[in-house]
Amino acid sequence: MGFDPTLNGMSAITLKVNGRSHKLDLDPSTPLLYALSDDLALNGPKFGCGLGQCGACTVIVKGQAIRSCITPVRSVAGADITTLEGIGTADKPHPLQRAFIEEQAAQCGFCVNGVILTAKAFLDKNPKATEPEIEQALSGVLCRCFASVRMLRAIQKAGQEMAR
Ligand code: FES
Ligand code: FES
Repeated sequence: MGFDPTLNGMSAITLKVNGRSHKLDLDPSTPLLYALSDDLALNGPKFGCGLGQCGACTVIVKGQAIRSCITPVRSVAGADITTLEGIGTADKPHPLQRAFIEEQAAQCGFCVNGVILTAKAFLDKNPKATEPEIEQALSGVLCRCFASVRMLRAIQKAGQEMAR
């Protein structure tokens, strides 16, 4: 079981992140984002609004893009969690990461975690998605640099590769 209640308000919680299990002592209501950044030193997911509105903190849980700033760790204990670090490496980037580099799609880069992981979760389920469908799927991830046109181009390019 991923969640063991104890008497002091803290619990032994198992988070399975990028294929590795971590047993952490946490208040079960701790936002997943804090556990990922503070306890596991992962800096792919970013703190933006903290209110579930911008998408900067996105991670993938059971194939769904979710907002880790408003997700208590108790709700994802034992589930497969994927962060940006888990989809590719510098040597072997995911097609989306490669397309973002090739298209120089990012401006400041702050939103890129949310854009790439939201796109990945969507394209994994909808490999033949059209441009308007991709645009719609990404509409909830905010980019303050107005770089969406380049990012959509990169996502479409990666989508073609992912669908092969
Ligand atoms: S930081 Fe989580 S949605 Fe904005
Ligand atoms: S590239 Fe700066 S927020 Fe999107």
